[in-house]
Amino acid sequence: MNPAPSTPPDVTRRLIDRWFPCDAVDAAVGTPAGSGRSEKALFTWFASRPIAQARAAVLCTLLPDDPALQADVDAAVRDGDTAALGRLGDLVSAQYPTGRPVVLDVFSGRGIIPLEAARLGVVSVGTDLSPVATLGGRLLADYALRDWSDEPAIPFGALPVAGEGTTVLFGDAETAPRLLRDVEAVLAEVGARVLDAVKALYPLDDSGRFPWAYLWAVTIPCDQCRRRFPLIGTTTLRHPYKRTSDPGQSFQLVADGDQWLVEIQDGPSTQAPTFAAADGRKGKSARCLFCAHVHTLEAVKAKGFAKQYEDAIIAVADSPADSTRKVWRTPRPDEIDAAERADLSSYARLNDHISAVPDEAIPPGNQDTIRASGYGYGTYGELMNARQTTVFVETVAAIRSVHNELRDAGCTPDYAAALAAYAAAILPRKLRRATRGAKLLSHGNAGGSQQNRVQVGDVFSNESKHSFNFDYIEAGPAEGPGTWASVSASGINALRKILEESPGGRPGRFRQASAVALPFRDGTVDAVITDPPYYNMIDYSDTSDLFHVWLKRALFDVLPDLFDVEGLQDKSEEIIVKRGNAAGEHRTRDYYEAMLARAFGEARRVLRPDGHLVVVFGHSDPDAWLRLLGALQTAGFVVTSSWPSRTETAPTGVASIKVTVTIGCRVAAARRPVAVAAQVDREVAETVKAACREWDRDGLALSDQLMAAHGPAMEVFGRYSTVLLPNGETATLDRYLALARTAVRDAAALRLDELPLETFDAPTRFAVFWQRLNGRGDVTKGEARFAAQSDNLRLEDLRGTLLTESRAGFKLRLDEPEYVSPRSSTFEVARAMAGAWNNGGTEAVAQVIAAADRAPNDEHLWAVVADISRQLPAGDKVALALTAAIRNANAISNLASRIEDANRELTLLDMTKEPTR
Ligand SMILES: C[S@@+](CC[C@H](N)C(=O)[O-])C[C@H]1O[C@@H](n2cnc3c(N)ncnc32)[C@H](O)[C@@H]1O
Repeated sequence: MNPAPSTPPDVTRRLIDRWFPCDAVDAAVGTPAGSGRSEKALFTWFASRPIAQARAAVLCTLLPDDPALQADVDAAVRDGDTAALGRLGDLVSAQYPTGRPVVLDVFSGRGIIPLEAARLGVVSVGTDLSPVATLGGRLLADYALRDWSDEPAIPFGALPVAGEGTTVLFGDAETAPRLLRDVEAVLAEVGARVLDAVKALYPLDDSGRFPWAYLWAVTIPCDQCRRRFPLIGTTTLRHPYKRTSDPGQSFQLVADGDQWLVEIQDGPSTQAPTFAAADGRKGKSARCLFCAHVHTLEAVKAKGFAKQYEDAIIAVADSPADSTRKVWRTPRPDEIDAAERADLSSYARLNDHISAVPDEAIPPGNQDTIRASGYGYGTYGELMNARQTTVFVETVAAIRSVHNELRDAGCTPDYAAALAAYAAAILPRKLRRATRGAKLLSHGNAGGSQQNRVQVGDVFSNESKHSFNFDYIEAGPAEGPGTWASVSASGINALRKILEESPGGRPGRFRQASAVALPFRDGTVDAVITDPPYYNMIDYSDTSDLFHVWLKRALFDVLPDLFDVEGLQDKSEEIIVKRGNAAGEHRTRDYYEAMLARAFGEARRVLRPDGHLVVVFGHSDPDAWLRLLGALQTAGFVVTSSWPSRTETAPTGVASIKVTVTIGCRVAAARRPVAVAAQVDREVAETVKAACREWDRDGLALSDQLMAAHGPAMEVFGRYSTVLLPNGETATLDRYLALARTAVRDAAALRLDELPLETFDAPTRFAVFWQRLNGRGDVTKGEARFAAQSDNLRLEDLRGTLLTESRAGFKLRLDEPEYVSPRSSTFEVARAMAGAWNNGGTEAVAQVIAAADRAPNDEHLWAVVADISRQLPAGDKVALALTAAIRNANAISNLASRIEDANRELTLLDMTKEPTR
């Protein structure tokens, strides 16, 4: 092995190379200041970084490695201390001899990392492939930080009354910042114009107010009796609430000749929904209200593709002036007529390639991402009913006319565009509560023990999947949750917070660009800090195309660099792993890795030679890590530090990640030594175990340690140009990811009844650790393969014996194995004992022990029996059986000894013993 070359002290070392405020990030992500939740209310984007982590990453990347700075960084991250942030910003500007450092985020999303850089006063640049995300970045960290004081007064200062029966929307004091005041006025103006345009479609209630919301349902013709009936998933409209003596409300569908009627009643409904899972069945089916004929889900879907779905209003919710309660009633005939008057055919095209109503087709392979596409809805314009679509078409028209009037009033093109863009930003947020995916969200329960508010649900039930329901809610045109007024108000509050917290910031710059072809010169960037796409978790562009089609209609000539395009967003270079199995899909695992490597290669090109690359990443699937780290390696980077943070508290797609890792990287040194695998293996194991000791102290969960361990393993691996295996071949990354996992397991020093885990057979070690991590949960194939590899096992050999495979992934088998033999692992024997207990008590368990040729008091076996039952919930059938076996251990051991003796005698008589089957 070559000796490490002696190097001069590294003056380019930054805080991140040695220290990161992990505790402060963990503490802050749960607070309003650090979570970034409020900033999210400005614009909808997916998988956005918490502000605290973005701030920590930016500060630690730009600041020199000086322990004296740690206190200010901690305060800026933990509490959002603006004085500390100001001091650090001055220091950053002062210490870069070439002027303000340039910080680039090449996957900038809606710009949370660039916002933090912009707040420090550095040159902050964000690029993203998606024009929708790029717009989000501009709203958050460009327009919000510009000085607009030279702009003329806009013609919408006076706050309009929104319409009959409604109140004034906003009313900020004269002292509010210029941008805030003007955005408020523009939003109020757009809201008023839209209301004026659509109010004829929404008749007032008996007290002269607009209803709060409407419950709609899709109707289908019955295959047997041909009569149309609505598909209803729930008949509850409002749960009861004992505290306010509210009995709640529900409805019944009543067959009346060939027609159906709705009856609304106090209290729960006794009627079963027409679209539900039949008793004891898994999938949902539709039952005809008239003749009870059952239609399978496939038959129901086929009707969608045959264009047989029709929308019908089921119920209307008023919001009485004297109550906060939403009160449901049947729709009046004039309301049904008014809704049917919505006529989309009269709208003129916006230009030769943009129609008023989005006619862009939903691409194939999106049945899991845009669920309505699996039910025959073919275009983005079909995701709402005609009246809802009318409101969006009118909103686009209002934004466009307001923009023109702002230009006529002398506003600069940039200011008029910024104000129009803030108004357009309400569209995606309103879309989230305005399509067939928006369910009635009834808080509370049937028992009435909880508060029973009703709201319009979010169509993104799990972050990025656009849900679909046959019964859905349409918010009314005026006030209440989900309306323009309510969504605008939270957007304004988000903007206010951003303005307040960015004194001294410099506006960031955002361009739409692919990370594999950056529009910047070589060696011009001081730091690339970025949060690359999360492998297969989020289909960014497919999911945001719904936003895109509407934003494009509002802004195609206002921000032509982003929105003057034909069709949907360009996905040809999107770096994700796309689910959905569409024919010819290019976004595969290999594509992800190859493109990510190209993106990091571009980052390397634009970075100064001494620049830093910092990558934020989180995924529970080791294959995702392998791809990411492989891409970094291919691009010539080495990992120099890694810092786990507990940033994600909610499930985000397929895997629920609780930890993301901030990974410091540098360009690999030109001359790194060669090492042999035995030495690197040892170093990796020691480094990971040392890190685990710290993580244990910090309370990082075992499953999160597994993910975090990739960082230290890569730090060691990256120190060498080549790692040689005994056979002369070169060791690859995956060897060290598997070794990192083994080191975490070893560091956990699991003991079963005082017996170290290492003393058990390999399949049992594997199964015991798996149960600790995943219980009865499903695990992706990639993770399962890595878990096996860490015990030098092959997934193929575990499939069937220890694991079962389904569409959801791999799951640990806890049921009775098909047979046991002396070759069975201890874990399988323990499972057989549980099964035997349920079938034949002590005698049967003793037979299993004998068949497995185990000593009756085999301490390893009894330790696994105890461990399995401890890891399971108390009432679990397997746990109950094993607990009973433990209680009867003496009797079982005696019986097993007797069987053993008898077998020995038989063996002496030269009888052969067959395995128990
Ligand atoms: C994890 S997200 C970034 C989120 C961001 N940090 C935020 O807080 O909003 C990854 C981003 O990568 C973008 N992306 C995917 N492929 C890209 C490519 N080829 N070039 C640039 N951006 C791309 C996606 O549009 C998405 O916004």
